[in-house]
Amino acid sequence: MSMDPSLSPSVPHDAGLDPERRTWLLATTAMGAAAATAVAVPLVSSFAPSERAKALGASVTIDPSGIAPGEVRVVEWRGQPVWVMRRTPEMLASLDGMQDLADPDSKLRQQPPYATNTRRSIRPELLVTVGICTHLGCSPVTIAQGSQNPSVPADWKGGFFCPCHGSTFDFAGRVFRNKPAPTNLVVPPHRYLADGTLQIGEDGEEAA
Ligand code: FES
Repeated sequence: MSMDPSLSPSVPHDAGLDPERRTWLLATTAMGAAAATAVAVPLVSSFAPSERAKALGASVTIDPSGIAPGEVRVVEWRGQPVWVMRRTPEMLASLDGMQDLADPDSKLRQQPPYATNTRRSIRPELLVTVGICTHLGCSPVTIAQGSQNPSVPADWKGGFFCPCHGSTFDFAGRVFRNKPAPTNLVVPPHRYLADGTLQIGEDGEEAA
C-alpha cells in the first residue's frame, strides 16, 4: 500500500533540505538529545544507520528491539532525523485525556492513516516521528514528567519541548494549543516487517 499522496506534512520529507540545512538539523538533533539527557530520563543513541539512507528516497530498516523504555533512537531518513522512541507505560498513560492539544485526534494529515490514533503509532509503545518542529524546523528535546525545567508548566506530563520558540508536544508528538508550531509532528510512512524489524519509508499495516 502506498502512502496517501494527499498527505502533505508541514515539513516536506526532502524538498528544500539543502546539504547545509540537513547537516544542521541532524547536528541540532544530536545537541538537543544531549541537552535532553540533563532534564529527562530518556537517552538518545547514535544515528543509525545513515549509510542506508544515502540514496534519497531509500527506506531504512532498523531493529527496534534494543531500544530501551524511554529511549529515543535517531535514524537518518531522507536527510531528516526520525525518532524511534520506546514509550514507557507511564508515557502511554499520559496520552489519554491529554488537555489543551491543538489537534488531539490528528485530523490534519501529519501522519499516515494507520497512525491516526491517540498514540499516533502502529505499535502502541513505539513512536516513529520526524524530529523537526513544525514551526520553523528546530529540533525539540525530551522533557520528562516531574522535571523542574521552567520551560514547561508545573502540571507537565512529559513530552517534547522546542527551545527555539517554546512549542510543546506530548509523547505522541501532538502540539499544544496556542504555540508557534501549527501542527503535530510528522509521522513518516513506516511498517513492521515479518521479522519485527521496522522499515521507515514504506507504508504498511494498520494500527494495532
Ligand atoms: S521552531 Fe520550534 S517553536 Fe519555533
